[in-house]
This record gives sequence, structure tokens and C-alpha cells, in this order.
Amino acid sequence: MPETILATGGAGYIGTHVAAALMAAGYRVVILDDLSNAVPEAVRRVNALGHGAAELVEGDARDAALLDRVFARHAVAGVIHLAGLKAVGESVADPARYYAVNTGTALAVAAAMVRHGVRRLVFSSSATVYGEPDAVPIPETAALRPMNPYGRSKMMVELMLGDIAAATPGMQVVSLRYFNPVGAHPGGTIGEDPRGTPNNLFPFIAQTLAGRHPAVRIFGDDWETPDGTGVRDYIHVQDLARGHVAAMDWLRAGGDTGGGSLPVNLGTGRGTSVREAVTAFAAATGRAVPHEIAPRRPGDIASFYADPARAARLFGWRARHDLAAMCRDHWAWQSANPQGYG
Ligand code: WQD
Repeated sequence: MPETILATGGAGYIGTHVAAALMAAGYRVVILDDLSNAVPEAVRRVNALGHGAAELVEGDARDAALLDRVFARHAVAGVIHLAGLKAVGESVADPARYYAVNTGTALAVAAAMVRHGVRRLVFSSSATVYGEPDAVPIPETAALRPMNPYGRSKMMVELMLGDIAAATPGMQVVSLRYFNPVGAHPGGTIGEDPRGTPNNLFPFIAQTLAGRHPAVRIFGDDWETPDGTGVRDYIHVQDLARGHVAAMDWLRAGGDTGGGSLPVNLGTGRGTSVREAVTAFAAATGRAVPHEIAPRRPGDIASFYADPARAARLFGWRARHDLAAMCRDHWAWQSANPQGYG
């Protein structure tokens, strides 16, 4: 009998890819999503991939009665908690909303798990919890110095889930710290569908290639990096999704998180500059990427990439896709879906 995983926020960019990967790995998936930043069409397309049919429950992950109904109706074996807000700039403008949603959903989900005797939790955290690192690559043992309310909310959730796990016999929590998720499922039917003008580099390049912007602005070319532009650890969303399955499989096989929240980086361990990304997109699409140098963006840092050794050691997981695949698959989605899910 296939185990059922509850994926909160599972209709979103990361969530749809995680749901598809879970079903391809033999799990059943129930998605709880308030659709504040997602649409049912995304779930329909996940289910059209042929790995099974995820059930979509529309609602707020802070709704305890709704969570009880979901847990009572489905034999939930584990939870992947992705529901939350994730825009750094927005979190600076409206911190109260970020703390309310990101900590509120996590607390409600964890409490429902305790009530229903569900003990395996994978939390969608973020490398943003590190803030400006003392050194790169960044291991999970690095200091946590988040620089914005979004990153602080993720750090708070990791701490809260760790305390709840420590107080709940048998509860195991893995907090996956994502670096920079990019790309899309190679079928080109699901992908990132940002509302408004994207802040992130990859969707902005893709939309520029689709003619929605005149040029990509490169935020600074005087950083302390090899070519002067910002360096990040871009990870293909398919690798990221596979990392969630690996974490849930590890927990199912009895993986021990040490009685708290175990942080695990999901990154490639390779740094890629903005110029390298622009060049790779041009090569992958055969199109020139109009770009110009612009002033640095407030809050940016020079170089940021993962030490992914813990995921390899614990889960046997490593990122497999290279930069060319990230650009190719991101463009396949963008070019086939110029208005996203419409
Ligand atoms: C990447 C690089 C920019 C846009 C953010 C969040 C983080 C995480 C991932 C959720 C930087 C440069 C960007 C542009 C540019 N999200 N850039 N022109 O800032 O590393 O991380 O997304 O967890 O929390 O902070 O990603 O894609 O915005 O920027 O030159 O139009 O591209 O300066 O060097 P970032 P990004």
C-alpha cells in the first residue's frame, strides 16, 4: 500500500515538482494549498504527467479543523511543509504578515501531526537563514545571521520545529535549506509562474528572452568575484524535488535527526556568476540575452554557495543537472507558457 504524503503549499513552483517526484517514487500525495500564489491548473498538469493523481485540498494550513479533516481522511505517513511566503523584499515591507503566515502555518501543521501521531516532517527552509556567510562553501554548521524578515521567519520555524520534535517522542524533522531553485520539469508543462515582475534572475532572463522586458539588469559588476558579478548556487528544481523524496525516504527508513530539526543544504556546491548564467541562457536558447550593468541591489552579497556534503552522506543525494540543463528547461517552460498557467 503506497504511503500518503501531505504536501502543504504543494500547488506552487517547488511544490508541484515535489509532488510529481513523490508520485514518481511511489507515494500518494495530498496537496493542501490556499492558492494565494498558485492555481489548480498546476496540479492538473502534475497529474497529467502520468505518475498518479494528487488530490488538491484548498485551504489555509493554519486551519486546525481543516488539518484534522485531512489527517482523518487520509492515512498521512509524513508531511512536507512548503506552504509559506517567500519574497525577501515583500517581507521587509510587511514583516508581520511573513511572521504570521510562515510561523503560523508551521505551528499548526506540527500541532496537527502531534494530534494525529504523524512523526515524519520535511520542512521547506532556505539558505537565506545564513545571511552573509563568513566563508563559502557554506556548511549547515555555519552561523545563522538572516538579514531579512523572510530569512528570520525560516530560522524561527526551524527552531520551533526542533523544540516540538524534542518534546514529541519519535518526531523527526529535516529542514531542507534551498539555495537558488531554477529550471522546470523537462516536459515544459509545469514551472515557475511568478506574479508580477520577478525579482529573481532566472525568471527575469527567461521573460526577457520572451520579450516581456527590454534587457536584464546585472546588479553590479564590481563584486569580489571572478568576473565581478554576483555568484550563487543555482539548483535545478528537479534535483531539489528529488532531495525531498530522498529526505522522506531516509526518514521512512528510520533516519535519526537527533531529536530536533536536522538542517540539510540542497545545493550543487558550485558557484555560478550572473554573467555565466546570462551566457548559458544564450547558449541554451540560441538567443542573445540583452543585458546592461546596473547599480548593486540593496541587501545583495558577493558570493553564496552550498557545501552539500551532508545530503550526500545521509541521503545519498547529489544534484545532477548542470547549468545548461537549468537554462534549457527553464526556457522550455517559459517559451511554451508565455503567460504561465494563464
Ligand atoms: C541572484 C543573483 C543578483 C536579478 C533569492 C532570495 C532567497 C531565495 C532565492 C527563497 C544575485 C543577480 C538578480 C536581476 C541580477 N528565495 N540579479 N539581476 O537574491 O540570490 O536569492 O532567491 O528562499 O531567499 O533572496 O536570488 O535570483 O534574486 O539573485 O543581476 O534582475 O542575480 O544580484 O547576484 P538571490 P536572485
